[in-house]
Amino acid sequence: MMYYINIDKMINKTNNILVTGGAGYIGSHIVEDLIKEKKNVFIFDNLSTGFKKLINRKANFINGDIKNINFLKKIIIKKQIDSIIHLAAFLNVSESQIEKKKYYSNNVSGTLNVVRACKNSKVKNIIFSSSCSIYGNVKGAVNEKKKPNPQNYYALTKYKSEQIIKTYSKKLKYNYAILRYFNVAGASQSNNFGEIQEKYGHLIKNISIESLKKKPHIYIFGNDYKTKDGTCVRDYIHVSDLSDIHLKALKYINKKSKSLILNCGYGRGYSVLEIVKVFGKIKKNLFYSFKNRRLGDVDQVYANNKKIKKILKWKPKYNNIYKIIQSAIKWEKKLYRNK
Ligand SMILES: NC(=O)c1ccc[n+]([C@@H]2O[C@H](COP(=O)([O-])OP(=O)(O)OC[C@H]3O[C@@H](n4cnc5c(N)ncnc54)[C@H](O)[C@@H]3O)[C@@H](O)[C@H]2O)c1
Repeated sequence: MMYYINIDKMINKTNNILVTGGAGYIGSHIVEDLIKEKKNVFIFDNLSTGFKKLINRKANFINGDIKNINFLKKIIIKKQIDSIIHLAAFLNVSESQIEKKKYYSNNVSGTLNVVRACKNSKVKNIIFSSSCSIYGNVKGAVNEKKKPNPQNYYALTKYKSEQIIKTYSKKLKYNYAILRYFNVAGASQSNNFGEIQEKYGHLIKNISIESLKKKPHIYIFGNDYKTKDGTCVRDYIHVSDLSDIHLKALKYINKKSKSLILNCGYGRGYSVLEIVKVFGKIKKNLFYSFKNRRLGDVDQVYANNKKIKKILKWKPKYNNIYKIIQSAIKWEKKLYRNK
């Protein structure tokens, strides 16, 4: 008599991973890292803000919208998905203040669909990309126990999504890791995946675009915030370190059958002006000027990262602001060459 043993089940492995938003900036980097680990990766993306260029050829691409629960469900069952990394969302803070319905529908209802689609499936792990913006304005380094206090609509959609992920985890019996990203910057070490989308107004993306010009000009939005030099303070994390956190978090929750909420930042706040001055050392002839505040920006937020260091034994590898900016510029040059 022959016995068939399901080895994956025995050693509790994750194999078939669905990455919503996998054709975007952060998702494409995570996909690259999952493929290096020999995972079977399914990118689920509607390319609303993502790019064909960022679709990894070694992954399976599904052109789908998380607003369509029936299609999501069909894919999760058919592809025997065991873990989901859910990144698909809209993330333009200023736009979210004006187009609230659009943001609710995509970010909150979309997340509800992702978890509901897991009913009666093999999904046992969900990783969710949340944001430090849920904390609002904070004094000093913020830890995960701080009561969320979203100050803009985008942040509110992330907070509501976190609650959905938590609530359904008991009912549907999955482990979750809620990862609260601080400000993400830089490109993958291969320089094959980086930020293309320009409309978010991310500072380091703007800097890298300007770096290609003979006379770069940086606009700083607001110089009357309650911070050391009046400009906003943020905690910038290299996308390669952030991607690595996803892989570590997935392994952890799967192995331990536990759920987690983790800050993903280096624990060091830089003001916009400080970042611009670092850029000034890389690029001569830099000019900067001040404009009015942008809608929804908070004064300052940076991470207390003791928890992630302790639980995941995470050690940042790329936490040098100079190198983060250089990595973003290198990617921008490549984008420009291939236009
Ligand atoms: N970039 C940051 O600094 C930052 C900080 C905190 C949190 N986040 C979160 O990280 C995630 C990824 O952000 P990113 O910077 O890679 O942005 P991105 O725009 O590059 O990626 C988002 C991806 O999701 C896809 N998408 C959006 N709506 C969809 C839908 N309804 N169905 C299917 N696909 C859809 C887009 O096409 C895109 O490929 C988002 O959830 C964002 O809120 C980002």
